[in-house]
Amino acid sequence: MARIVPADRAVDEALAELRKGGIVALPTETVYGLAADATNGLAVARIFEAKRRPSFNPLIAHVSDFSMAARIAVLDPISARIAEHFWPGPLTIVVGKTPDCEVHDLVTAGLETIAVRMPRGIARELAARLTRPLAIPSANPSGRLSPTTAEAVDAALGDRVPLIIDGGPADVGIESTICRVEAGELTILRPGGVPAEQIEAVTGLTARAPAEDAGIAAPGMLTSHYAPASALRMDVTEVRKGEALLAFGPERARHAGRAIVVLNLSESGDLPEAASNLYAHLHALDAAGAGTIAVEPVPFTGLGIAINDRLGRAAAPRDDNIHDDAQDVRS
Ligand code: TXA
Ligand code: MG
Repeated sequence: MARIVPADRAVDEALAELRKGGIVALPTETVYGLAADATNGLAVARIFEAKRRPSFNPLIAHVSDFSMAARIAVLDPISARIAEHFWPGPLTIVVGKTPDCEVHDLVTAGLETIAVRMPRGIARELAARLTRPLAIPSANPSGRLSPTTAEAVDAALGDRVPLIIDGGPADVGIESTICRVEAGELTILRPGGVPAEQIEAVTGLTARAPAEDAGIAAPGMLTSHYAPASALRMDVTEVRKGEALLAFGPERARHAGRAIVVLNLSESGDLPEAASNLYAHLHALDAAGAGTIAVEPVPFTGLGIAINDRLGRAAAPRDDNIHDDAQDVRS
C-alpha cells in the first residue's frame, strides 16, 4: 500500500526513490502525476506498468529550468517565446529532440519530437534536485479520470505506487495545454490549463485544432478518454429521474430536484474555479452510483474550451473492455 506523505516532508524520500529508479505519485499545479527519472528506461517502464498504459503513448518530460529544457529540446524562437511566457505553468510544448537528448526513447515512444513542460511546485523542485527531467503522466489508470487529490491517487493506484506526495487539491485541476509550432503555424494538440487565446496573444498567431488525419499527435485526443464509470449526458436543460447533476453557474436546469445528488462546478460561473473542481466532482458523482451524470452547459470560452473537451471525451461512447486491452492508447 502507498504511504501518503505531506509535501513539505516528502522531498528527501521522493528523491531517494527517484534516484533508485522508482516511481512517485506527486502533485503538479494541473493534476497529480506519476513521476520517474525520464532518462531511466526501467523507471519509465514502471510508470507504464502502473498505469497499464501502452508503451507507444509518449509522456511529457518535466524540466526544472530553461537550461535543462535546452539540453533535451530544440526550442524554435516562437516556442521559446511561449515557454518564457508560460513557464513554469500548465503549458506543454512539442518540439524537436536535441541530437544527444538524454531522455529515454520510452518517454518519446520513439518519436523525433518531445513534449516538454516546466511545472510549478514540488515536481519542479524534484527535477532540479535530481538534475534530470522527470517523465510524469497523470496518475490515473489509462483511460480514466485524472486525479486532483492524493486521496484520488490512492484510490486508483495506491496498490501500485510506494509513495504518494500530498500537496492538497491541485491548483488548476485540468491538464496542461499541449501546443506545437511548425512552419510558423500554431496547433493546439490538447486544450488545457492555458487558454488558446493567451497563446495567440503572445505569439500573434491564430491557433488551429489538429488536422483530423494527424494520427496520434496526442493520444489524449482519443475520443473516449478521461472516462468516469458512469455515462455522461452533456448540455442538459432538463434532468431525468435518478441522474446525478453536474451543475454550472447560478441557474439550474429544469427538474434539478430529480437529481439524486448535485455538485456545482462554480456557483458564480467562474471557469478557473470550474476547471479546478471538474475531476473531483466527476469522481464524487461517479461514486454516488447514479449510472448517468447529467451536465449543464459550460460556455465555450477561455478554460471552458478545455472543460468541454474533457467532458466530451468522458461522454463519448466506449467499449468497457478497453481498459484492460494492451492495445489501448490512452493517457
Ligand atoms: O498537466 C499535465 O500535462 C499532466 C501533469 C502530470 O504534468 N500530465 C499529463 O500527462 O497530462 P499525460 O501523459 O496524461 O498526457 C500527455 C499527453 C498525451 O496525450 C501524449 O500523447 C501527449 O501528451 N504527448 C506526449 N509526447 C508527445 C509528442 N511528442 N507529440 C505529441 N503529443 C505528445
Ligand atoms: Mg493523462
